[in-house]
Amino acid sequence: MRSLTKLMAVSAVAALALTGCGRADEDTPAATSSGGATGATGGFAADSLIGVSLPQKTSENWVLAESLFKDGLAAAGFKADVQFANGGVGEQQNQLQSMVTKGAKVVVVGAIDGAQLGTQVKAAKDSGATVIAYDRLLLNTAAVDYYVAYDNFKVGVLQGNALLEGMAAKKPAGPYNIELFAGSPDDANAKVFFDGAMSVLQPKITDGTLKVVSGQTQFTQAVTQGWKAENAQKRADTLLSANYSSATLDGVLSPNDTLARAVITSVKAAGKPIPVITGQDSEVESVKSIMAGEQYSTINKDTRALVAETIKMVQALQKGEKPTVNDDKSYNNTVKVVPANLLAPHIVTKANAKEEYANDPTLSKLTN
Ligand code: BGC
Repeated sequence: MRSLTKLMAVSAVAALALTGCGRADEDTPAATSSGGATGATGGFAADSLIGVSLPQKTSENWVLAESLFKDGLAAAGFKADVQFANGGVGEQQNQLQSMVTKGAKVVVVGAIDGAQLGTQVKAAKDSGATVIAYDRLLLNTAAVDYYVAYDNFKVGVLQGNALLEGMAAKKPAGPYNIELFAGSPDDANAKVFFDGAMSVLQPKITDGTLKVVSGQTQFTQAVTQGWKAENAQKRADTLLSANYSSATLDGVLSPNDTLARAVITSVKAAGKPIPVITGQDSEVESVKSIMAGEQYSTINKDTRALVAETIKMVQALQKGEKPTVNDDKSYNNTVKVVPANLLAPHIVTKANAKEEYANDPTLSKLTN
């Protein structure tokens, strides 16, 4: 069990001092039972409607979640209404409202913008439904009962460590020139990933081991609106031409695989050597890139396990039981601390990919 105090801001507008004690341990997902949750405990009919509201398809994990939720909820006997909101926040608000109108007993929400769904989740609560924030926290609202996700801060810590290790393997001593990329500022996860990584990298920036040549070390400078590849690629193009005409770029912190590949595209177009670059999500193209020695690392956050855990929570609620949670400290959404069921993310590099993806039917084919 780690014991540290960290500053973990969950959105650009909300910076909260939180204590990380009690965070999920390395390899033990959901363990203890909940306390203090506000979800409905009366149970509901076994064939009830369950709404699942997903954001835009900004990475493969969301696409995988769709069929896993449809099949898993149906197999558990529920009716499932699973929707994407590719049109943006307004579409997600309408979809959620319609799930409530249709009588959903649980709404599972992967928010595009965690701060923009307060009215709809309050309507869900008022109708007697339980609200579960899935992967991304819902902010500034009392109307969220549970959070289920991989430990986001830990993801960032693993990325920061991988960046240092990857660079040290190539060049034993610093200083190392690096650049920092973050995710979309409307996704509550983005700042938490960045803070996790900076908890490792900032001391090395301070002691001169790492040099952010552009000087862009703040989250607000590093963000990638909408998690869009083209935005990361454009920023990488600008950073390279402004700062690396003679300097070598040794490493890049990238918050996920889509953006890592966008940065690699930019570096290649500039005719530069590929730096050590991190990622997240174990996307097919990135696993191929890792095996080919281009992208350095990714994170294994098995979507199958996260969806299965969410469905277990729904089943507990159906029976009138409290779902499993293992963290009641870390996720303050500015109105309440949301009881969380956190799963452990794993770092993946070429060295352990075979072992990490051994039971994944798609990814295991790529690691031989
Ligand atoms: C998820 C990441 C994903 C990103 C972009 C985040 O909220 O946690 O796994 O890479 O969204 O889709």
